[in-house]
Amino acid sequence: MVKGLLIVNIRELVQTGDIIRQKVSGREMSELSTIKDAFLYIRDGIIIDFGLMKDLKESNISPEDPQIVTIEAGNRLVFPSFCDSHTHLVFAGSREEEFSDKIRGLSYEEIARRGGGILNSAARLHETSENDLFEQSISRVNEIIAMGTGAVEIKSGYGLNLEDELKMLRVIQRIKNSSPIEVRSTFLGAHALPAEYTGFREKYVDLVINEMIPVIASGELADYIDVFCDRGFFTAGDTERILMAGMKYGLTPKLHANELDYSGGIQAGVKYNALSVDHLECTGDEEIEILLGSETMPTLLPGSAFFLGLKDPPVRKMIEAGLPVALASDYNPGSSPSGNMKLIMSLGCIRLGMLPEEVINAVTINSAYAMGLSATHGSVARGKVANVFITKEIPSYKFMPYAYGSDLIDTVILKGRIIKNN
Ligand code: NIG
Ligand code: FE
Repeated sequence: MVKGLLIVNIRELVQTGDIIRQKVSGREMSELSTIKDAFLYIRDGIIIDFGLMKDLKESNISPEDPQIVTIEAGNRLVFPSFCDSHTHLVFAGSREEEFSDKIRGLSYEEIARRGGGILNSAARLHETSENDLFEQSISRVNEIIAMGTGAVEIKSGYGLNLEDELKMLRVIQRIKNSSPIEVRSTFLGAHALPAEYTGFREKYVDLVINEMIPVIASGELADYIDVFCDRGFFTAGDTERILMAGMKYGLTPKLHANELDYSGGIQAGVKYNALSVDHLECTGDEEIEILLGSETMPTLLPGSAFFLGLKDPPVRKMIEAGLPVALASDYNPGSSPSGNMKLIMSLGCIRLGMLPEEVINAVTINSAYAMGLSATHGSVARGKVANVFITKEIPSYKFMPYAYGSDLIDTVILKGRIIKNN
C-alpha cells in the first residue's frame, strides 16, 4: 500500500498559500505566491507539506522511504488544478449547425427565437436515454480532467420539465459518484422558456417554484440554484421569486446575469447573497458599487463572449475598484463548446487585459470560491485536497496563458492519485 507521493525538484510550485485565504481581490489579484526549486508531499489525498528542496533534507520526508513514490519534476512546474465554477457540460449532441447560422450573421437571441439555442438542446436531451447522456457527459469530464481541471460545477437547464431536469441532475450525481473530479451541482430550471409556455412566463416560473424545487431539493440533487436573468429570458422579478424559493430549501444562489443587457441580475444576486454572478458583459458603475459591498464573486466567462462575439466585461475597471474576479469556461453546446481552462486564461489575458498572475488567481482560488470550495481547493496549502497538475517543460508560469494553443499539461493528480501521466 503506497502511502505518500513526493514531487521533487519542481522548477516552480505555483499558487502556494495558506488555507485561510478564501479569495483575492483588487490589487492582490496581481500577486501570485510561488516557490522555485520546490518539493510537494501528498499523503491520503491531502497536501501534507511543501517548501524549498534544500529544506526537504531537514524534514522527516525521505525520497528513499519505500512507502513513498517519488516523481522527479525536473524543469516542470506544478499548479493547483483549475476550478471551473460554471459549466453546462451535461448535454446531448451538439449544435454546430447553429455555428454556421451564427457565422452567417444571426445573433444568439435570433437563433433562440427560431427554436434553436437552449430549446434545441432540450429537445435532443429529451430524446436521449439517461445512460447515453451519462456516457456523453463523462467523456467531456474526462476531457477536462486531462486539461487540468480538478473541480467543476455542472448545471441542469436543458430539461425544462421536471422529468428531464431530474434526468440531468441524476447524471450529474452519477458523475459526482464515479469520477475523481470534485463536482458541485446547480439546478437551472429557469434557463429558457419552453415553447408551450410562450406568453405564460409566470406560469413556468410557478412550475419551477412549486413543482421542481421541492422535488429536487428533497432528493438532494442540487447544491445551488441558478436563473438565466437576462433580456429575452427571465426578469429580475422572476429571478428573485425563484431564488427565494430555492433558498427556503437550502439551495444557495449562483446567477447568469447581465450577459445581453443590464438585467438587474447583479442586484438580485447581491440581494440574495449569491455565491457568484456570472457573465457580466453589461456591468456599469452602479453594478460595481453594489458588488463591492457584497461577498458575491463576479465571474467572467470569456469563452462565450469570444464565441458569440459579445462585447467584453470591464474587468480592468472592476479589479481597479477592488473587486475579486473569477474566470470559468461556461462549457456548453451553444455559446462555449470548450472546457479548456488554459485557453480561458489566455482569453482573460488577451481579450480582457488581465495579467498572467490575475488569470491564475481567477481560475484557481477565486473560481474555487465561486463554487464554495476555497477552503479545500484552489491553492497549494497544507490540509487542502491534493488536486494538482505537473506541466510539460516550460520556462515560467507566464508561458501557460501565453502559449494559448499548446497542451502543456503533463501529469494530473486528483485526490492524491495519478490520473493522467504522459
Ligand atoms: O451560459 N447564458 C445562458 N446559458 C448558456 C448558454 C446555453 C446554450 O446556449 O445552450 C450560457 O452561455
Ligand atoms: Fe452559462
